[in-house]
Amino acid sequence: MTSALPYANGPVHIGHLAGVYVPADIYVRYLRLKGREVLFVGGSDEHGVPVTIRARKEGCTPQDVVDRYHGIIKKSFEDFGISFDVYSRTTSAIHHKFAADFFRKLYDEGKFVEIESEQYYDEQAGEFLTDRNIRGECPKCHAPEAYGDQCEKCGSTLSPDELINPYNAVTGNPLVKRSTRHWYLPLEQYQPWLEQWILNEHKEWRPNVYGQCKSWLDGGLKPRAVTRDLNWGIPVPVEGAEGKVLYVWFDAPIGYISNTKELCDANPEKYGTWQQWWQSDESRLIHFIGKDNIVFHCIVFPSMLKAHGDYILPDNVPANEFLNLEGNKISTSKNYAVWLNEYLEELPGRQDELRYVLTANAPETKDNDFTWADFQARCNNELVAVYGNFVNRALQLTKKYYDGIVPECGQLTDTDRQTLAEFSQVKERVEALLEEFKFREAQKEAMNLARIGNKYIADEEPWKVIKTDPERVKTVIYISLQLTANLAIAFEPFLPFSSARLRAMLNMDTFRWDDLGKTDLLPSGKQLGEPSLLFSKIEDETIKQQMDKLEATIKANAAAEAKAAPVKDTITYDDFQKLDIRVGTVLECERVPKMKKLLRFLIDDGLERRTIVSGIAQWYEPEALVGKQVLFIANLAPREFKNGLVSQGMILSAEDYDGTISVTTVEHAVKAGSQVS
Ligand code: MF3
Ligand code: ZN
Repeated sequence: MTSALPYANGPVHIGHLAGVYVPADIYVRYLRLKGREVLFVGGSDEHGVPVTIRARKEGCTPQDVVDRYHGIIKKSFEDFGISFDVYSRTTSAIHHKFAADFFRKLYDEGKFVEIESEQYYDEQAGEFLTDRNIRGECPKCHAPEAYGDQCEKCGSTLSPDELINPYNAVTGNPLVKRSTRHWYLPLEQYQPWLEQWILNEHKEWRPNVYGQCKSWLDGGLKPRAVTRDLNWGIPVPVEGAEGKVLYVWFDAPIGYISNTKELCDANPEKYGTWQQWWQSDESRLIHFIGKDNIVFHCIVFPSMLKAHGDYILPDNVPANEFLNLEGNKISTSKNYAVWLNEYLEELPGRQDELRYVLTANAPETKDNDFTWADFQARCNNELVAVYGNFVNRALQLTKKYYDGIVPECGQLTDTDRQTLAEFSQVKERVEALLEEFKFREAQKEAMNLARIGNKYIADEEPWKVIKTDPERVKTVIYISLQLTANLAIAFEPFLPFSSARLRAMLNMDTFRWDDLGKTDLLPSGKQLGEPSLLFSKIEDETIKQQMDKLEATIKANAAAEAKAAPVKDTITYDDFQKLDIRVGTVLECERVPKMKKLLRFLIDDGLERRTIVSGIAQWYEPEALVGKQVLFIANLAPREFKNGLVSQGMILSAEDYDGTISVTTVEHAVKAGSQVS
């Protein structure tokens, strides 16, 4: 199993977790629990332009950037229980050699074509520019700052040649064309083979994956450059290729193999050889990725493996769509995300809660939205009220009535039998769904188990029956405990932390997937451990803090992006003369009851006193304005508000880019009623 190597140019966020790492981890944990031999390979993608952009922004070296974020990312994955067998990095010496050798073999065997082309060059900086480092006007929507590969405003895919007035995104310098030589993988040669392999032999792939492959293939594949003019990456291992590196999308997927090699070389007894995983027909390869990675994992990387020979190909590529956050696109560059490291600082110990909600809302078939309100509702209404509540009742009653010892099971009633029967079906259902990579459905089934348990114990009311029929209670508790043990197994792939705690409370030392559905997992007479709550409620205050944080980011971004509004249509001096703008002295200022936005001013306008109402209450304490001299329009038609208040004019104020209001005043004191021109 592989999961996409995240770029080490920032921390990882909930979108990464939901799209790639949680589903991969669920699947891997499930297979391990079944006793299958699995290797879960991950690592950081440390080359490529995004890293160099970040380095320039932060004024440090690319190596500094990847060292920092590799550490943060690796720790986040550990913290969230993503159970990699190996998590390495593409700057490792093993990877550099492995990827260079891979390239060299294809080069020596004539698998590449060399193409000389004109590329954009910054003469002042003395460097060729990659697509992402070129900006210019979008040819489609005319946004001024589209990238060489994409316009973020209108979403069009672009090539640098299409940009109007291209410039260097970092230095701002204008660009010229200069010719440069690169190696290309002639994908068109692999087209017939890919069509057969994907379109005919892998019809079972998810519709979004199959569909994207089909549209690429229908469009006709073209040669793809596998080298770049850049000084950060793996040097092209060919004489005369100074200043060129392997394209990041060429080296990164090879990282799956080199990371496997790193692990196997270090511990061959435990893991065997890397060839046993990558070059044996008995091995099955699965790539977990997000939808933006589909073409690389389904078309480009398989073509590289095919060109090389020797390697197995992916059996499935269960790519997810995207997760949005409160209706907006998650963005690393705009800092609009829930970062995993920050989440854990702010909601410590709540890894399983996030795993649960992200799986419940997994963007498996379409883009989905993460909202904090939904997070709170699912935690409180499902994890706490159903799963946690059932387990807690079963364990507390066992402690209270039987000193924590599993009671005898007596005669079964129809309800008992029915409950156990429903339980025994769950294994097959969850298993079938997991095998098809339908993780949200699978988790739903597991939760259903908890619902059955919760309903059972609520209906049987052992806390009441204990007074009339204590023998019957033994059976009810016995069954509840078996259901609890089943939950510990069923939830282990999804919620590993709470499952481990539950197993500790149950003193369950062995547990296997195949035990699921059994009704004698905890034998009568077994001493259980100390019960404690599995989940606790998420308070409103916690949710509010998270919402405030996102709002602050949106505001900061709007302020940073804002440009002065375009100047309005020209008017004549006569038009201007119609406005009677004057200075007024604020005599009184107060909030208007029931009208949150409004302030009522009493203004000395030099002739008399007039009332002016202004919608700026959010920005001022009224007292602070008393005595100030403000500018106002004296000849504006009066305006009546809902509550009968009449405003005789309008106070002028400036609105900053982030929406902050600042009232206009005069530079030094003048008489009330002075005219402004
Ligand atoms: N770094 C890429 C991304 O975040 C994914 C690389 S996956 C690999 O989109 F296959 F290249 F490793
Ligand atoms: Zn555009």
